[in-house]
Amino acid sequence: MSEHHVPVMLNESLDLLITDRSGVYFDATLGFGGHSSEIIKRLDDNGKLVAADVDKDAFEFSQKKFADNSRVSLYNFNYSFIDVIAKIESLSYFDGVLADLGVSSFQLDNPDSGFTYRSDAALDLRMDKTKELTAADVINTFDETYLAKIFFELGEEKNSRRIARSILEKREIKKIETTSQLVSIIDDLVPENFRRKTLSRVFQALRIFVNDELENLKLFLENSLKVLRQGGRLVVITYHSLEDRIVKDFFKNETIVNLSPKEDPLGLIKREARLKLINRKPIVPTDFEISNNYRARSAKLRVAERL
Ligand SMILES: C[S@@+](CC[C@H](N)C(=O)[O-])C[C@H]1O[C@@H](n2cnc3c(N)ncnc32)[C@H](O)[C@@H]1O
Repeated sequence: MSEHHVPVMLNESLDLLITDRSGVYFDATLGFGGHSSEIIKRLDDNGKLVAADVDKDAFEFSQKKFADNSRVSLYNFNYSFIDVIAKIESLSYFDGVLADLGVSSFQLDNPDSGFTYRSDAALDLRMDKTKELTAADVINTFDETYLAKIFFELGEEKNSRRIARSILEKREIKKIETTSQLVSIIDDLVPENFRRKTLSRVFQALRIFVNDELENLKLFLENSLKVLRQGGRLVVITYHSLEDRIVKDFFKNETIVNLSPKEDPLGLIKREARLKLINRKPIVPTDFEISNNYRARSAKLRVAERL
C-alpha cells in the first residue's frame, strides 16, 4: 500500500484549526495521516493528537506511520464516537477537531475496494468491513422504489427510476456482484456524454447509503460539540453538496439564539448559541491546488468556533 493520498487544503485547514500549540487535537478522518502528520509538526512537545478512521487498512497504515510517536493516539473507530474516544483518553475536551470527509485516494484507486467504477471489483463499498450490508446486497435485494430513492436522494441522479428498473430486470437473469456488471447496466442506459457523471452519482449514492455517511456526520457534529473546548475550532472539509449542506445547516443552527416565530410561536424555547462562524462563505482550494490534485476540485472548508 503506498501513501499517495495528497491532503486537501492542508495549510488553510490547519491555520484555522490550531489555536494553541500545546493543545490536544482530534483528527476524525485519519486516512493516511496527511493532515495528522502536519498537526503533530505544528504542535509543541506538550501538544497531542488523537485520531480515528473506520477503515482498517487506513488505520493500520497510519498505526505504523506513527508507531514511534508517543504523542499520537489512534482509534479504528467511527468518528461519531468522538465523545467516547475523549472518555477513553480521559479527556474532558479537545482543543480543536478536524474532519476531512469522504474517501481517500487509496480507497478510490485501490482496485480491490470497489469504491470506483473505473476498475472491476466486488461490489462492496464498505469502509468498515465489519458491517454486514454491502453494495451488492443493496443492488440485489432492495425493491425498485427503494433503489430509485437511494440514487435520487443520495446521488441526485435524475434517471434514478430507469436505472433501478433496469437493475431489477438484469438481476432476474444474473446476480449483480461486481462493479463492472453495474457499470454495463448504466452504459446501456445513458449516452456516452452523461456516462461519467451518472456512474459517479450512482456509486456515490451507494457508498453514502452503505456507510450511512450522512447520519454518521450528523452524529459526529452533535457529539463533537460535547467535547470541544470553548474557543476551540471545528474544521470540516466536505466533497459533495449533501454533506456540505449538513455542515452548513448545523453551523447555522448552532449560531442562532432565537428560533423564528414559526418554529417557536410562543417564544418558550430558550437556547444558547454554541458556535460562532469563522468563515461565512466556505473556503475553496486554489486553482493551483486543483490543477495538482484533481480530488480537491469539489472541496469546501467550513470552520466554526465553540462558544
Ligand atoms: C479524505 S480521507 C482523509 C485523508 C486524510 N486527511 C489524509 O490527509 O490522509 C477520509 C477518511 O475518512 C475515513 N472515514 C470516512 N467516514 C468515516 C467515519 N464515519 N468514521 C471514521 N473515519 C471515516 C475514510 O475511511 C477515509 O480514510
